Amino acid sequence: MSQQCHAPFISLEGIDGAGKSTHVPAIYRWIGEQGFKWIHTREPGGTPLGEQLRTLVLNTPMQAETEALMMFAARAEHIHQVILPALKRGDWVVSDRFSDASVAYQGGGRELGVSKVEALESWTHPGLQPDLTLLFDLSPEIAAQRLQSGRGDRDRFELEQTTFFDRVRAAYLQRAQQFPERFLVLDAAQSPERVWIRIEEVLEILKKRSVQA
Ligand code: TMP
Repeated sequence: MSQQCHAPFISLEGIDGAGKSTHVPAIYRWIGEQGFKWIHTREPGGTPLGEQLRTLVLNTPMQAETEALMMFAARAEHIHQVILPALKRGDWVVSDRFSDASVAYQGGGRELGVSKVEALESWTHPGLQPDLTLLFDLSPEIAAQRLQSGRGDRDRFELEQTTFFDRVRAAYLQRAQQFPERFLVLDAAQSPERVWIRIEEVLEILKKRSVQA
């Protein structure tokens, strides 16, 4: 579906504490400076129903299957109410997480297996994937230190052990290998300035492609 639109769909991914949010303002600034409109959205969330599901899924103990289904329930609303309308208007869409997060967290972290999550993916959004996925890759040990020195209250995911995040990280990296044409794996242990240089290079390429499309 995204291939028919000129405006790109970008997703930001990584384990909790990898620092993806640090780069969000610079990305919006850059898109705005190029003269494009953009929207900032997130998963789970992005719609009134999605935000309610987010509160539940981040704070209520539940089965891994329930968790996966809630992520995709929120995603279905998000796609139809927010992502596709924005792309049709010609706005760039930058989403904090998309289905790669379900593959990594529910498929890998919760050990549901990738194929179950891929089945939900092909049912919920056949043909729609981000044009660019920025994967902020960081060791779970460093990410845990960053989380500890950060905000106060932690959600169900942020309270998980390092071994959980090892599985999440491995599933993300496997997914990046599977889809090299849309993934950019960033070494999030580097300084934000160095990480930004790589992001800007790829945004330039994406801009050229979207103008030519
Ligand atoms: P955030 O902290 O980046 O806003 O993401 C909320 C949490 O939800 C984060 O720990 C990752 C998790 N998550 C999943 O487990 N599966 C998903 O499909 C998505 C979108 C997020």
